[in-house]
Amino acid sequence: MSSVDEVLKYSRSLSEYIIRMRRDFHMHPELKWEERRTSSIVERELRGLGIEVIRVAETGVIGVLKGPGEGPVVGIRADMDALPIQEENDVPYRSRVPGKMHACGHDAHTAMLLGAAKVLAKVREKINGTVKLIFQPAEEGGLGAKAMVESGALDDVKAFFGIHVWSMLPAGVVGIKEGPMMAGADAFTIKVKGMGGHGAQPHEAVDPIPPACDIVNALHRIVSREVPALQPVVISVTMIKGGTTFNVIPEEVTLAGTIRTFDEGLRNKIIKRVKSIVKHYAEAWGCEGKFELSEEYVPPTVNDVRVTNIVRRVAGKLTKVVEGEPTMGAEDFAFYGRKAPAAFAVLGVRNETKGIVHPHHHPKFDVDEDVLWLGTALYVLVALDLLEEFRE
Ligand code: NI
Repeated sequence: MSSVDEVLKYSRSLSEYIIRMRRDFHMHPELKWEERRTSSIVERELRGLGIEVIRVAETGVIGVLKGPGEGPVVGIRADMDALPIQEENDVPYRSRVPGKMHACGHDAHTAMLLGAAKVLAKVREKINGTVKLIFQPAEEGGLGAKAMVESGALDDVKAFFGIHVWSMLPAGVVGIKEGPMMAGADAFTIKVKGMGGHGAQPHEAVDPIPPACDIVNALHRIVSREVPALQPVVISVTMIKGGTTFNVIPEEVTLAGTIRTFDEGLRNKIIKRVKSIVKHYAEAWGCEGKFELSEEYVPPTVNDVRVTNIVRRVAGKLTKVVEGEPTMGAEDFAFYGRKAPAAFAVLGVRNETKGIVHPHHHPKFDVDEDVLWLGTALYVLVALDLLEEFRE
């Protein structure tokens, strides 16, 4: 039996285990940096397979599986955190924790990677090198990947691979694409400070509201006037706060929003332009304008050509493969890609006959569990091929 057939057969036979683990994680969701239960189960399962375990980044777990043959170190990654959402699915495995839910599918990622640990442990004799199974915390706005990389425990990894289940693709279909896959993301806060006063005597006050409105409109003009027409950029102002009632001019207006790009040069150019707009539009009306990046930058996820080609070839042996569609959403998987060649693929989990149609982060999000074993097989086969490809 070829190793592909063997991996496929064993992964398929683990379907029940993967679903059982996924449901257990689903019933007990933990938010970013709180993944204590999840990580202790992951650690227990890995140790049960005789896999060495390293604990890093608070609740992160790395399983280190070394084969008998010489070879490089490669990393396959899952994230473990849930979201502050009240689940609305009426299923036996519904979240047992009020206000918390696995609404992005990270429960499935963790379960698929545990399945991969089982398969890799079974074919250990054929492994030339080391596979690091990366279970990271805090993907949802916690930059868990950055903490994992900064721990130093992945310094020897020569290539990374990650999977996200995907509600936009039919169950079992894999999406992959070389180059830009997920956008880089910034969050910003703008403050326009004036001087409060009576709504009936605006000339006695310094009203921050009109310049704040001008700033919002000017920011939207950046995309049409400053960005090449074929380059994807999103600037969204998502919050405006100012004032308390109809006859009082407020002291200050606060705006917040996000900037998404695939290109860091363009990102820097946009930030410079935003700063200038804020400063000068505010000053023109006697106000003070302040611009601040309020969250740490998440770089774009850009898929490496060599890793992508392996993923495409391997996935083609398992299932239908389509060209992945880049999104303006961000993923902290990008931090692995800054460390070594990396690729991020998506696995379709949408199934209309089962009513599994809701988007990620929706209170009725769910996944077609019957295809999760494919994710397990993909993790394993990509890891084995990466070991060959990235041999010195
Ligand atoms: Ni996610």
